[in-house]
Amino acid sequence: MTDRYAVFGHPIAHSKSPLIHARFARQTGQDMVYEAILAPLDGFAESLAQFCAEGGRGANVTVPFKEQAFSLAKTRTPRAELAGAVNTLIIENGALRGDNTDGAGLVADLTRNLGLALRGKRILLLGAGGAARGVVGPLLDQEPARLVIANRTASKAVALAEHFDRGVEGCSLDEANTPFDLVVNATAASLEGQLPPLSPEVFGTGSLAYDMMYGKDTPFLQFARSHGASTADGLGMLVEQAAEAFHLWRGVRPDTRPVIATLRSA
Ligand code: ATR
Repeated sequence: MTDRYAVFGHPIAHSKSPLIHARFARQTGQDMVYEAILAPLDGFAESLAQFCAEGGRGANVTVPFKEQAFSLAKTRTPRAELAGAVNTLIIENGALRGDNTDGAGLVADLTRNLGLALRGKRILLLGAGGAARGVVGPLLDQEPARLVIANRTASKAVALAEHFDRGVEGCSLDEANTPFDLVVNATAASLEGQLPPLSPEVFGTGSLAYDMMYGKDTPFLQFARSHGASTADGLGMLVEQAAEAFHLWRGVRPDTRPVIATLRSA
């Protein structure tokens, strides 16, 4: 029987995950299908339970269900525990194991696709919500010289930094006013077409500005470019987090570059 996988979200119609996993499956000769499932806002647990009962082998979880997926998982990987959210579920004999591949996806895109070695670098992470929290651990594992979390509500950045207890600093957006090698926008501002109120001083020669949102030249990327930074959107992260999930499920690592190139040209 063909193995079934799915991504759960609300909304989900515009998800690129089915396309990405179909390309991975074809590339690696895996007998599997991957569909998008719109779970009702108050019915994620039921929707997921039904998928498990029907023999589903694994799932991705996106907004707004990542925290619920964390609670529903019977066991969790250390990186999912650190992230406080689950974006990948492995279903074994009906039991759910939760993982989080978002941070690994970001790091893979930065280091492999964009050629930025993070060791010894100064990293500024904007935002202190779920998206930011998911990537702090994997960024720290790269041993940057500094990791500063800056958020509109400073107290949330400080709390998130304390949670990690490995020399991470938390502050308000305007307290971040020295140059960083990498500035990652993990705020929801780009979704709203807004620019986080940010000092241009954070961009120095050779800085990379990375927006986790993809498919748009956001106000953040435009602002960064106008202050001399090079820029990247989150399309590579999307494909890399998917590749990491695919590897967990199928034991093979797909080639992400042609998939990123196809999505980029679409
Ligand atoms: P997500 O799961 O996408 O991270 P979230 O948990 O609601 O969503 O967090 C949204 C993040 O974007 C927060 O860090 C938020 O800042 P506050 O904590 O001050 O609310 C940030 N954010 C949202 N809109 C923003 C804007 N226009 N400018 C700057 N930061 C913004």
